[in-house]
Formats: sequence, structure tokens, C-alpha cells
Amino acid sequence: MIAADPETGRSICRQRERGCAGRAQRCSDFVSPRATQAVLYVGAERVDEFADAMRLVREGHDVVVINPRETAPARAFRRGGGTFVRARVEQLPMACCRFDVICENYPYPSGQHYVPPRTFAMARLSRLGPGGRWVLFTEAVRYATLLKALGDYDEGVQRSFRVELSSLPHTEAPPSAYPSAGTRFRLIFERRL
Ligand SMILES: C[S@@+](CC[C@H](N)C(=O)[O-])C[C@H]1O[C@@H](n2cnc3c(N)ncnc32)[C@H](O)[C@@H]1O
Repeated sequence: MIAADPETGRSICRQRERGCAGRAQRCSDFVSPRATQAVLYVGAERVDEFADAMRLVREGHDVVVINPRETAPARAFRRGGGTFVRARVEQLPMACCRFDVICENYPYPSGQHYVPPRTFAMARLSRLGPGGRWVLFTEAVRYATLLKALGDYDEGVQRSFRVELSSLPHTEAPPSAYPSAGTRFRLIFERRL
């Protein structure tokens, strides 16, 4: 029930917007509308990701988008007043911030970009504040399974975080250039209080 509101048990998505069941989930579904939250969007490239980030900015949240790759939507986001940092998440100073929500859609740490799951996860998890959540969507069942195992069995991670892995139809995952056949996976790591 990580994605559910602790008071009502309803999903945050349903609280924020009636009738959203069945539509593609997005980062803003996991950000509480009740308080100003610190949100980090990792690896955003697409127009819809920046539109979602800007929605959160307009709602008053503190939003940072980070990616070493700067795309036209990133430049438009910055022109619109958003904070886009051209860097890798590992380069974000630890002292600078602890995030309530970290969102990431379809990282592809494979081939020459391969990053071992623990290294990959710790770069995100170490930047979560108490109760903070890292919400990751992926098409890669193997990487999703490795990350879930890390959350379940790595002593250091397991002590500090709860992990939930769900599969969902591609129509309920954020849009993606990856082939639409098949299932997407959503991982949520939540820092224990
Ligand atoms: C496969 S693309 C996915 C892009 C987009 N989120 C999507 O869903 O289509 C992965 C993105 O993550 C970015 N990226 C890779 N390593 C990163 C890191 N360490 N920190 C931040 N962004 C990173 C890449 O530059 C790339 O834009």
C-alpha cells in the first residue's frame, strides 16, 4: 500500500483526480497535494515529463530535474522558470537536499551504460528524506527484479527502505518510446521513518 494515502487508504492518484484509473501514471501522482514537497525528476527527456514537472512547480512544490543530456523540452522548462540541472544524479551534492519524491522513467543502464543495481539504487536512495519515495518505471524485467531483490535482501537497504514491485499494462505506465507490447514495471522504494 505504499502508493496509498495513509489516512484514507486510497491511491494518491484517485485523491488528486477523479477517474484517473486506467490512465498513464505520472510522477505527480506520487506527490502529496497537502504539503510542499521536494521532488527530483531523474533522466527526464520527454515533453510529457517536463509538463508534469511544470505542473508540480505551479502547484508550489520544489522541483529539480536532472539529466546530463539537455533536450529542447529541458530548455523550455528552464525558460518557463523550472530548475533543470545538466548533471548526473551522482553529482548532486548530498548536502544540498533530501527529496520527498524521486521519479525516474525508463532508465536504461545496460551495455556500455551498465551500472550495477546497488550503485544505481544508492545514488537515488541516499538522496531521499525520511519517508521519501523513489518511484521508478521500467520495461526491463531483469533490472526490476534485481532492484527488488536488493530491497528485499541487501541488509543495509532492507533496514532503511521498504520496496514494492508491481507490474502494470503499458497503458497505465508513463508514455515511452519502447515497444508498447507487454508489461511495464513500477518499483517504489520508501525510506522507513
Ligand atoms: C533511456 S533514457 C529515458 C529518457 C526518458 N526518461 C524516457 O522515459 O523516455 C535515460 C535518460 O537518463 C539519463 N541519465 C542516465 N544516467 C543518468 C544519471 N546518472 N543521472 C541522471 N540522468 C541520467 C540519460 O541521459 C537519458 O536521458
